[in-house]
Amino acid sequence: MTERRHPPRARILGTGRCLPDTVVTNADLEARVDTSDEWIRTRTGIRERRIAPPSIDTCDLCEEAARQALEAADLRPDDLDLILVGTVTPALGFPATACLLQERLGTRGQMAFDLSAGCTGFLYALSVADSFIRSGNARYVLAVGAETLSRIVDWDDRSTCVLFGDGAGAAVFGPTQDPERGVLATRMAADGSYWPLLHMPGGGSRHPASAESLAQGLHYVKMQGNEVFKVAVRTLHQVAEEVLEAAGVSGDQVDWFVPHQANRRIIDAVRLRLKVPAERVYVNVHRYGNTSAASVPIALDEMVRGGKIRPGHRVLLDAFGAGFTFGAALIRW
Ligand code: ACO
Repeated sequence: MTERRHPPRARILGTGRCLPDTVVTNADLEARVDTSDEWIRTRTGIRERRIAPPSIDTCDLCEEAARQALEAADLRPDDLDLILVGTVTPALGFPATACLLQERLGTRGQMAFDLSAGCTGFLYALSVADSFIRSGNARYVLAVGAETLSRIVDWDDRSTCVLFGDGAGAAVFGPTQDPERGVLATRMAADGSYWPLLHMPGGGSRHPASAESLAQGLHYVKMQGNEVFKVAVRTLHQVAEEVLEAAGVSGDQVDWFVPHQANRRIIDAVRLRLKVPAERVYVNVHRYGNTSAASVPIALDEMVRGGKIRPGHRVLLDAFGAGFTFGAALIRW
């Protein structure tokens, strides 16, 4: 009898991250807009965020995170079959930051493209990596989530400027035949009817850049925070439940819950609904604010390098962002 081989699963072989050195504290923002450290901390949990200086763009952050992830995976850039960057703040309007990153890494030939899925960008990239690897169309995939949101935030708008930060996180995926390990289940979704609640109107073909669009501030993030909050809690819970069900795992069997780091209150509300114990939730929003597509891979890299995630752990990733997009994945490390 011939042994039947299952299609491979994708597993994470290495991770990396890059945070700019410049720290902007809540006290720094108090000096700029009508806000307070107390308001920001109690409403969001954020204490400080990192901001990239003008000399650093999204591709620079990607490159550092990607090099670390490749080194951890013990692979060279030429080994990659696919390069993905989740971002809403690409280095250029076009071409894709993934192509700029490919050039920086000194490799060529493999497919490279960006995913615009807001804060869910890394999870969307993870699900593309998983699909390519499971179908046999790729062996090694680099997925990066990277943002310089500081470039599209109105620093005079207190309702948004206190929330965001810059950074990048990366993961290299490769195949495993081990039936116990890898990406066990993913669930990705979107509901475009919510786009007005969180968007940047200017710079595209609807409102091309012009003196008028600049004067109207159309190149800044527009957000209805309290509406976003409600949908975020509901959908983060919903996709996470669906992934747990698909994998036959309950919330209390999860070793680590790694949610998108937008707001401490959102994280706590979702954790309670999923019945994940508080000590199994990873939180770094107090140090970096909301880094959008970068938040989940930055958290993952901190956990891996800090020895928190260990082989055999069940790790639940969960994200929500502009679109609205939402997605969750369960990984057996
Ligand atoms: N400092 C002081 N006061 C403020 C500030 C600030 N920085 N920002 C807003 N306020 C005021 C408002 O003007 C309002 O005052 P008013 O009552 O006199 O009108 C009051 O605080 C309450 O405003 P709300 O917006 O209702 O405050 P809320 O409790 O909803 O908190 C927040 C706002 C923190 C933005 C919250 O809604 C939130 O976190 N929403 C989710 C946002 C988010 O995570 N977006 C990103 C998710 S997707 C992605 O990551 C891209």
